[in-house]
Amino acid sequence: MQLKQAVERAYERFVEHEVPSPRLNAEQLVLFVLGREHAYLYAHPEHEFAADEVARYEEIVAQRERGCPTQYITGHQEFWGLDLLVSPAVLIPRPETEHVVETVLDLVLDSYKENPRNIRIVDVGTGSGCIALALSSEMPKAEIHGCDISDEALEMARINAARLALGQRVLFRKSDLLGIYGDMKFDFVVSNPPYVGEDEADKVQRQVKEYEPKVAVFSGKQGMDIYRRLIPQVKEALNSGGWFVTEIGFSTEAQVKDLLKGWVEVRTTADLQGIPRVVAARKA
Ligand SMILES: C[S@@+](CC[C@H](N)C(=O)[O-])C[C@H]1O[C@@H](n2cnc3c(N)ncnc32)[C@H](O)[C@@H]1O
Repeated sequence: MQLKQAVERAYERFVEHEVPSPRLNAEQLVLFVLGREHAYLYAHPEHEFAADEVARYEEIVAQRERGCPTQYITGHQEFWGLDLLVSPAVLIPRPETEHVVETVLDLVLDSYKENPRNIRIVDVGTGSGCIALALSSEMPKAEIHGCDISDEALEMARINAARLALGQRVLFRKSDLLGIYGDMKFDFVVSNPPYVGEDEADKVQRQVKEYEPKVAVFSGKQGMDIYRRLIPQVKEALNSGGWFVTEIGFSTEAQVKDLLKGWVEVRTTADLQGIPRVVAARKA
C-alpha cells in the first residue's frame, strides 16, 4: 500500500463511520503511523508501507473509526502554541478555551500593569495544565497554581510543565476545588470546570461521552453543580478587586451570572462562533 492509497482508504472508512473532518483525520493519522510531517504527504505520495506500518495503520484507523479521538491516538494537542501531551485521563484542550487565557491577559494589562510580578493565579480543574501553562508562558513573573481532583490529570499536567520547561513556575496540587489552599488569597481564579448536565448527555458528541473523563465533562443534572460550589469559594479566595474568569457552557450564561450577584464588572466574551464562552467578574 502506498501513502496516497492509505490516506484515501482511511478517508473512505472515516466517511462511512461519520468521523468528523474525515480527510484531515486520515492525513494526520497516516502521517502519525509513518512518524512524518505534513509536507511528506506531497513529497512522497508513493511511499510504500512496510508490513509493520500496515499493521499499525490498520490498528489506528480502526481505533478512530470506533470514535477514539485523534489526540488520544497521537498523544498530542496544541494549545496556545504549546505542544501538550494528552491521554484519556485528561480532557483534550479545546481552541475555545484559549479565550479564557486571552481574557486573563487582557485583564492583567488593564488592572495590574504597574506590578505584574506580584500576581497570584490559580487554575481550578487544570486537567492537562493547558490554561495554567499558557498563562505561565506569557507571564513569567506571576505565581501560578493549578489544581485538580484527578491524580492522573495532575500527573499529565506536571509532565507537560516539565516538557515545556515551566515546571519550576507552576505548582500543581491535588484539591477538591479550592479546598487545599486554605487562607491563601489570589488575584485571579480561572477555571474551565465540568459544565455539561447529565440530562444533556445524549446531545454530547459520542467521542466526548465515550472517551473523555466523565469527571471532566459532567457536573450534576443540569451542569451547574460545580459552579454552585466553586463561586462562593472563589469569593472567599480572591483579594478584593481580584477576578474570577471561567469558561461557560452553551446554555449556562444566565445561571452562572445569577450566581455572581453582588460581584462587579461582570462581563461575557463570545467565541469565534459568537457563542457566549467566558464570563469574568470582579470581587468588589
Ligand atoms: C473541563 S475539564 C478542563 C481541563 C482543562 N482546564 C482544560 O481547559 O482543558 C475540567 C477539569 O476539572 C477537574 N475537576 C472536576 N471536578 C473537580 C473538583 N471538584 N475539584 C477540582 N477539579 C475538578 C476534572 O478532573 C478536569 O480535569
